[in-house]
Amino acid sequence: MLGVVVDGDLDEMRQGKHAVLPEAYANRSFQLSGKPGSGKTVTAERLVFLLAKMGRRIVYVDCKGTDPDLAMRLSAACIAARGPGVRVHHFPSEPLNGWIGTPAEVANRLIATQDTTEPYYESTLQTAVRVAMGVHASQAAGGTVTSSTELMRRFDAAFLTRAYQGTSQQSLVADLVRDRQVLPGVKMRFAALFEAVAGGFDGTASYGDADLIFLSLPFASKADATAVVRLLLADFTHYCSDPSRKDRRGDDVKMIIDEASALTHLSDQIIDLAERVRDVGGSVDVSNQSFEGSGDNEDQRKRLRGAMAGGTILHSSDNPEPFGTADDPVDTRGVVVQAA
Ligand SMILES: Nc1ncnc2c1ncn2[C@@H]1O[C@H](COP(=O)(O)OP(=O)(O)O)[C@@H](O)[C@H]1O
Ligand SMILES: [Mg+2]
Repeated sequence: MLGVVVDGDLDEMRQGKHAVLPEAYANRSFQLSGKPGSGKTVTAERLVFLLAKMGRRIVYVDCKGTDPDLAMRLSAACIAARGPGVRVHHFPSEPLNGWIGTPAEVANRLIATQDTTEPYYESTLQTAVRVAMGVHASQAAGGTVTSSTELMRRFDAAFLTRAYQGTSQQSLVADLVRDRQVLPGVKMRFAALFEAVAGGFDGTASYGDADLIFLSLPFASKADATAVVRLLLADFTHYCSDPSRKDRRGDDVKMIIDEASALTHLSDQIIDLAERVRDVGGSVDVSNQSFEGSGDNEDQRKRLRGAMAGGTILHSSDNPEPFGTADDPVDTRGVVVQAA
């Protein structure tokens, strides 16, 4: 139950005087919006309970990381819904395996963690990550990269030069290492990311291994937290759409990203994630404090609103209009719910 219905025409979300989550809505993405303290996280907790009851596994991303009891309350909600046997995984204290997939897939996810505004740097960073991961070459010495330590070892001019000696990529690597600043710069960026999670991506668990995966971000720097979330979201997209996964369906798992606007420039990735997981039946809910806070610009906010196909669960807000009745023809049916 989400609350008590006061008014509205969204009849499928009503059950007597209560607002509920119908099974048909369980796989739709929702945006939760409202002022700080307006009850978004409490609503998310209720969604977790209802979804767990419907047999969904939950991946909960706590972008704020300021509520020390949240993980426990979410575990309690899952246990209440499904019994004491639920498996809970708590990242980063319990690591995940960030190295699943082909070298190219892992390289793409690593590249997606970085905000590169300068085009020259962007292309050199991509090349550095790809050659270090051995994307171009089965020839790359040392085999597949399966840990952050191994990747760090490869951001090294002598190593890469040796590994690609006599291969078709030899001149590419020569170009890459010519500017002596580049490789150490890339290495430093990823070192910071891996240091922040302290081995958090070097585990064996995957998104499929728990009923509740709680991802908290107790990091000192917002840049580190953003990079970590970018990698987690990319890993989740890969998990949902991985053709090698048995029974490739996303409708058994829901990701909830709480307080996405606490981090910077995530909206495009969240839109992309929502659209991709929707293709395999999955969904992602995202919470933010206002329409303005839901994206970097108007276009992004509207696209996010569109990608959240279930609609917006709007809490107390100073500017509710853009979520519904504004300039473009969105479905504005709804119910007004009172907390209960
Ligand atoms: N449905 C509800 N019923 C009773 N209290 C609520 C409800 N929703 C929120 N609250 C209270 O409001 C406080 C803030 O809610 P929270 O979900 O943390 O807000 P937000 O995530 O929007 O910042 C909570 O500590 C809780 O005590
Ligand atoms: Mg909250």
